[in-house]
Amino acid sequence: MPDEPAQDDDAEPQRHDHHHHGHGHRHHGHENDQGITGALRYIRLLPLMWRSPINDAVVDLVRPEAHEQVVDIGAGMGAGVMRAATSGAQVIAIEPTPFMRRVLRMRRVLNRHRTNVNVADGAAERIPVDDRSIDAIWAVNTMHHWVDIERGVAEIARTLRPSGRVLLVDEVFTDPSHPDHQRFGTDHGPEHHGFTMVDAGRMGTLLRAAGLTDVDASNARIAGRPVIRIAARGPRGSIADHPVD
Ligand SMILES: C[S@@+](CC[C@H](N)C(=O)[O-])C[C@H]1O[C@@H](n2cnc3c(N)ncnc32)[C@H](O)[C@@H]1O
Repeated sequence: MPDEPAQDDDAEPQRHDHHHHGHGHRHHGHENDQGITGALRYIRLLPLMWRSPINDAVVDLVRPEAHEQVVDIGAGMGAGVMRAATSGAQVIAIEPTPFMRRVLRMRRVLNRHRTNVNVADGAAERIPVDDRSIDAIWAVNTMHHWVDIERGVAEIARTLRPSGRVLLVDEVFTDPSHPDHQRFGTDHGPEHHGFTMVDAGRMGTLLRAAGLTDVDASNARIAGRPVIRIAARGPRGSIADHPVD
């Protein structure tokens, strides 16, 4: 991998002067994910976050290849990362929550594909890799956590190669046809665990405005689950055609 993303919780993520946004040390993880309450909430979800049908399906759709450099935004406990690592691709697990990064690192060490897995402090709004260096980006059940959707989309447009592909998927637990609707979807209305779901149409508009191509944003089904599904290819033309700020 030409540019090693920040590997250390204490390390400052790699910065690029030409797109320094003045965010300084601002933490881009959602405050609902931080602290002991956040950790406890995720421990409850551990069986679903260790391995999940939706992560398997999304990684299979993205289809990482052995020579590729790919990113899982908001990798959680690594359900998607570990499946992708079996392809031989270099997988960068981006996670803003320190507890999750600890779990990811433990899991990485125990995994026989560990040399394909890189864990980095980052978020959708702060992807610690070079411009146009990534072949594929995916995110599962994180869009509703993003604190700055526009910035997240701009980061995807910046980091994806023109030939690259992106697949962003959030399950819609509030849909009664979701197999886990009774468990997660009934008591939150349009909200899910206190986070607001994103709108497929709005995401599509933002991706097109950021210069991504072949954008397809819709409500769909993946692995038998109702989802918001945003698929696209990397930006054509130069980065200057679609300035981030
Ligand atoms: C419901 S979990 C999903 C984790 C994993 N993708 C999976 O499917 O198992 C949501 C994840 O989003 C992460 N997250 C929170 N804020 C984020 C942000 N701004 N950008 C990217 N991920 C974020 C959380 O730390 C958490 O790991």
